Amino acid sequence: MKRVLLALTATALVATSFGSPVQTADAEAASASVPTFTKDVAPIFNRSCVRCHRPGQIAPMALLAYQDVRPWVRSIKDKVVSREMPPWGADRTRGMKFRNDPSLTQQEIDTIVAWANGGAPKGDDADMPAPPAFASDSRWTNGEPDYVFQLPADQIIPAEGELDVSNLYTKIPFTEDRFAEAIEIRPSNPRVVHHLGAYVVDLPKGAQLDAQGRLVGERSNREDEGGDREQAGFELAGASKLISYVPGRGLEVHRPGTGKRLAAGKYVRWAVHYNATGKQEIDRTKLGIWFNTKPVAHEVLTRQAGNPVPTDRMGYNNYLVNGKEIATEDPRTGRRRSKIPNIPPYAENWTIVGVTPITEPITLYGLSPHMHLRGKSLKWVVVWPDGKEDVILDVPKFDFNWQIHYELETPLRLPAGSKLLGIGVYDNSLRNRWNPGPHLEVYWAEQSWDEMYQAFTEYSIDSQDLAKLETRRLTNQQ
Ligand code: HEC
Repeated sequence: MKRVLLALTATALVATSFGSPVQTADAEAASASVPTFTKDVAPIFNRSCVRCHRPGQIAPMALLAYQDVRPWVRSIKDKVVSREMPPWGADRTRGMKFRNDPSLTQQEIDTIVAWANGGAPKGDDADMPAPPAFASDSRWTNGEPDYVFQLPADQIIPAEGELDVSNLYTKIPFTEDRFAEAIEIRPSNPRVVHHLGAYVVDLPKGAQLDAQGRLVGERSNREDEGGDREQAGFELAGASKLISYVPGRGLEVHRPGTGKRLAAGKYVRWAVHYNATGKQEIDRTKLGIWFNTKPVAHEVLTRQAGNPVPTDRMGYNNYLVNGKEIATEDPRTGRRRSKIPNIPPYAENWTIVGVTPITEPITLYGLSPHMHLRGKSLKWVVVWPDGKEDVILDVPKFDFNWQIHYELETPLRLPAGSKLLGIGVYDNSLRNRWNPGPHLEVYWAEQSWDEMYQAFTEYSIDSQDLAKLETRRLTNQQ
């Protein structure tokens, strides 16, 4: 709905700006102090906007050439002043710095405002910077990958209806484990892919796949086994998740010397959620891999705050709900588990804190908040062994439309004895204007009217050294 409204506003703005004369070079010369597009504005757009604002991408218009930009000047000014564009949820006044922060400095905003107010002159063509390399390649951001996985078959998306997440499997054909330094997801039909998660997994025992790459039989496409299954067959929990895709996001570049493990003999599980668009559609999403450029010493692991990290594989998920611990014992296994209770109707500040005790030194690389329409805020805090606390990332107004991955500029080392908290707040009240049903009790599930608490955290274990080819036995592994 939000997008539709924005698109309508945009059309209205185009209509009015067509009426005003386009600024000429003469007028520009008359006010030499006015910034120009080619010299002052295009470099800002290249850095912070054209990733999405280029042909074939998710934004409604390209912001590459002057003629693309000109009709949008008023709207651009409004959106950068309000900081709605570029989308970025982190509170800039606290927490750490992020290397993929596209947000504009106050000076850049002032430049755009002065340019717009001064008639948005084009400037001298000779000043125009070259567009980023990816702008001319609508396929892969960093050129051809070293290896490409694709969905096992064309997926046919029906014209209508509410679609479940499909789980599809593609075999990893390598004879030894390989490491991906960069990974990118490219749907062949971006209109229909609502979101997609890619995991490295074993097939359930005895399971078979049909020609579509789906599990055959009773266990097919069941999501309810949750995290336990994701770990299947890995020594380290968190090795399973490869990457998440949502529109506007789908490329992850790891630091040289680190990477995601593509384990020989396992499968890529594609958990893909398609949108019906009103007509039957086809998609065959691809997953591009760029192998490591340096020998990998540390594999990148992804878990959520609240999951045990890193060695306590059999440990229980540890959550506080509105301040109370909710772990219970599973009567069958005697293991402690915690299942987050449903959110009651009209609850306004329903708070979940995932608590991860750090049992040996780890290094943090990135954080991805994932919640749905009742998600209000999500914050990562480290509690150091001496009890002092620091905010790593604060997303004070979580926006469901922008599922952003925050990559630390400098990886953060957490010593044993520290704790990582992921503090999520939900608003199921009438005050939340995106709330699809304040009168409802909210369940934890996939659809956007259900909820999720996923404080995804990317890290590696400092003591791991894959270069030494030693199989390190983890202390409390069964
Ligand atoms: C992560 C992708 C992304 C980035 C980066 C981004 N945009 Fe956007 N932009 C969008 C999308 C998608 C829309 C469509 C509206 C919506 O869904 O919010 C949009 C809408 C807009 C609009 C409103 C168009 C209208 O309908 O009136 C303007 C103006 C705009 N962007 C300017 C910018 C500028 C300027 C930058 C850089 C400083 C930027 N955007 C960076 C994705 C992006």
